[in-house]
Amino acid sequence: MKSVVVLGIESSCDETGVALIRDGDLIGHRLATQSDHSIYGGVVPELASRAHERNVVPLVNALLTQTNVPKSGLDAVAFTQGPGLLGSLLVGGSFAKGFAQALELPLVPVHHMRAHVLAHFLADPKPTFPFLCLTVSGGHTQLVVVKSFLEMEVVGQTRDDAVGEAFDKAAKLLGLPYPGGIEIDKLARQGDASRFSFPLYQMPELDYSFSGIKTAILYFLRDQLTADKDFVEKNLADLCASIQGALVDLLLTKLIQASEQFGLTSIAIAGGVAANTGLRTRLQQEAQTRGWELFVPDLMYCTDNAAMIALTGYHYFRAGQVADLSVSPSPRLPFS
Ligand code: KG4
Ligand code: ZN
Repeated sequence: MKSVVVLGIESSCDETGVALIRDGDLIGHRLATQSDHSIYGGVVPELASRAHERNVVPLVNALLTQTNVPKSGLDAVAFTQGPGLLGSLLVGGSFAKGFAQALELPLVPVHHMRAHVLAHFLADPKPTFPFLCLTVSGGHTQLVVVKSFLEMEVVGQTRDDAVGEAFDKAAKLLGLPYPGGIEIDKLARQGDASRFSFPLYQMPELDYSFSGIKTAILYFLRDQLTADKDFVEKNLADLCASIQGALVDLLLTKLIQASEQFGLTSIAIAGGVAANTGLRTRLQQEAQTRGWELFVPDLMYCTDNAAMIALTGYHYFRAGQVADLSVSPSPRLPFS
């Protein structure tokens, strides 16, 4: 049987990624991480679009050279249709359209969050269907029941901030650099998580809310700083550990609830926040007591990458889910 090779393009936020999948296996990938946003304390959409524009062509050329795949060896071009930043999506999408049209290849639009879920099939061991996936990033917090490569159902999600956003906003209040999630994680390792408690707002059913904890931290710090202007400095590690503990608790409560409700013990985690040490430790503990089989992809596949886009594109292409040139990027692309 002739092999199927799919090129994937990721440009939803501040990472330009390109990857090649052959028959479901990753044969090469490249990523250009944009570092120029940190001085602004967050991603600047216009700068991100311009960097994607500079990066995408050299990255694709380097990838094809590195993998020895000629343009004539490609079968389809997959790209992130959304959700994400409009300008960034437009750059990747326009490139994918032009490239596909020039080579007369089918175009495969991919949902970024569905691709995060399928990133588990880039690593070993691979989960078997059905499984439950908690997707935690800077833009999303979702509990997804995954029935097949194509069939997924969001059973719970945040109604306001994403958990990564909550980490980043808390870090900002503590004066830590952006992106703050990783800084909180590092400092939390030396801290005592039981030192401070922050109220957790439990949404009905399987939904999340993370904006309350940010306000709670804001008022807590304001009161403490009035009494002692060095409060944050003196208690930084304990503050980070307590904030991380509260956020992880909130994530785990609903994950456990969803696992019981759907009778699923195959548990996967995806997205940038999956890198969090506190979350990983709690997951291991719960997995032991509850008999879960846990799937955590390599860190490089947790964060934004094109391998997951190419892999998802490969499955869509095989299922005949291709688009014509009228397809357009969609910053708020719905999950289904
Ligand atoms: O998935 P991702 O790379 O990008 C998207 O948002 O799509 O996730 C980025 C988020 C940021 O909010 C960042 O602070 C958070 O993941 N993050 C972490 C850690 N590493 C990255 N949050 C907590 N602990 C970490 N170790
Ligand atoms: Zn992402």
